[in-house]
Amino acid sequence: MNISVIGSGYVGLVTGACFAETGVTVSCVDVNEKKIKNLKKGIIPIWEPGLEDLVKRNIAKKRLSFTSSLKDSIQNAEVIFIAVGTPPEEDGSADLKYVLSVAKEIGLHLNHYAVVVTKSTVPVGTSQKVKRSIQNELIKRNLDIPFDVASNPEFLKEGSAIDDFLKPDRIIVGTESDKAQKTLERLYKPFLLNGHPIIFMDITSSELTKYAANAMLATRISFMNDMANLCELVGADINMIRKGIGSDPRIGNKFIYPGAGYGGSCFPKDVKAVIKTAENNGYSLEVLKAVERVNNRQKIIVFQKLARHFEGQLKGKKVAVWGLSFKPNTDDMREAPSLAVIDKLLEAEVQITAYDPVAMPEAKKHYGDNVICYVDNPYDALDNTNALLLMTEWNEFRILNVEEIKKRMKDHVIIDGRNIYDTSELSNNGFSYYAIGK
Ligand SMILES: NC(=O)c1ccc[n+]([C@@H]2O[C@H](COP(=O)([O-])OP(=O)(O)OC[C@H]3O[C@@H](n4cnc5c(N)ncnc54)[C@H](O)[C@@H]3O)[C@@H](O)[C@H]2O)c1
Repeated sequence: MNISVIGSGYVGLVTGACFAETGVTVSCVDVNEKKIKNLKKGIIPIWEPGLEDLVKRNIAKKRLSFTSSLKDSIQNAEVIFIAVGTPPEEDGSADLKYVLSVAKEIGLHLNHYAVVVTKSTVPVGTSQKVKRSIQNELIKRNLDIPFDVASNPEFLKEGSAIDDFLKPDRIIVGTESDKAQKTLERLYKPFLLNGHPIIFMDITSSELTKYAANAMLATRISFMNDMANLCELVGADINMIRKGIGSDPRIGNKFIYPGAGYGGSCFPKDVKAVIKTAENNGYSLEVLKAVERVNNRQKIIVFQKLARHFEGQLKGKKVAVWGLSFKPNTDDMREAPSLAVIDKLLEAEVQITAYDPVAMPEAKKHYGDNVICYVDNPYDALDNTNALLLMTEWNEFRILNVEEIKKRMKDHVIIDGRNIYDTSELSNNGFSYYAIGK
């Protein structure tokens, strides 16, 4: 089977490499020519565990190739995946210009039956827009080539993307034809051996399922952050509340960890986009509006705790920031809480020394080389600092060398935005330790 994947970012590249691993011949396309040039040599543009090996292995087996020509890529493809970005517009709605320009280009070059699958996260109605756009181009070419559209939102998580793709909890597919359904069932069969389902539905429901999933997860996080802030006011411990409610099977223990707010390329933009979809349909998603407000407040909570500790006297202080990516095991800093906190620190004229195992090159793209001081070892960030801010719970930060920290820091203040440290250990060692909700 031949397939084409258009857009070779986090989703497209993982999709292409994982399908190639099952024996499918995959052609990945991207408009970024430098990215394609590098990928051809096995150089991966993102940091994702296991991806480099997977890509190199499948290039060597000639099952995975890269091109900047969409026309060449779709030549023999039975299935064409659209996996380009859908960033937020000013008003919060999803910007579909990349998806629709790909659809137009498919219409310009399609010369055989194919299933055109939207894998990008897109609002309700987008697959129909894709269909119309392809049809319009075919009409202009005086061609009557049959094709189907389908929606197949992606649920992989950065940091465990390969595992998520190879062993999915479920695959959601929206179709409007038996032929498209059978084709996608065949393509996905190798991933269903763990017994998890492929759920077929209509295209509209499939498109909305992705937003509903991310909105629900974001809601759990904001709910716990809101509760954590109440805990601080009344003297309760959010960890105890989390254990107490998480043991109820109706609630479950996943995604109820409080922290410094959610970030990343998906939750913030998808919550915004579904709010906008509702507005466009004359409805107000009140819960999600609150989820967003709570998150915006939470993203700067680490800064606020620092400011409170130093009674607002932050100018000239020196802090260490551990962790920059929006979560561990990725270099992705899109909408990361660290960005919100660093912006506030810079505004307050605080000197920042930062360390992240993989995301420092991303941070440099954002802030340049000179605004923040970067170090190669987390402990080197601590020399003569007034406080340590923990923003991302990378494994390497979990067990502290308390003696070393005490020696290096000027003031013994730790603000733990991910609740990974032990309050009594740090208090007994003379630290002023602040966490979230305890
Ligand atoms: N990143 C995630 O964890 C994740 C998870 C699930 C769903 N999604 C969704 O998947 C989609 C893609 O996200 P991503 O994180 O992979 O984005 P990304 O920015 O990493 O990758 C998108 C790629 O598409 C390329 N592109 C843009 N226009 C193109 C065109 N006309 N032809 C070919 N290539 C083109 C870009 O150069 C880029 O390399 C988004 O809708 C996102 O919401 C992302």
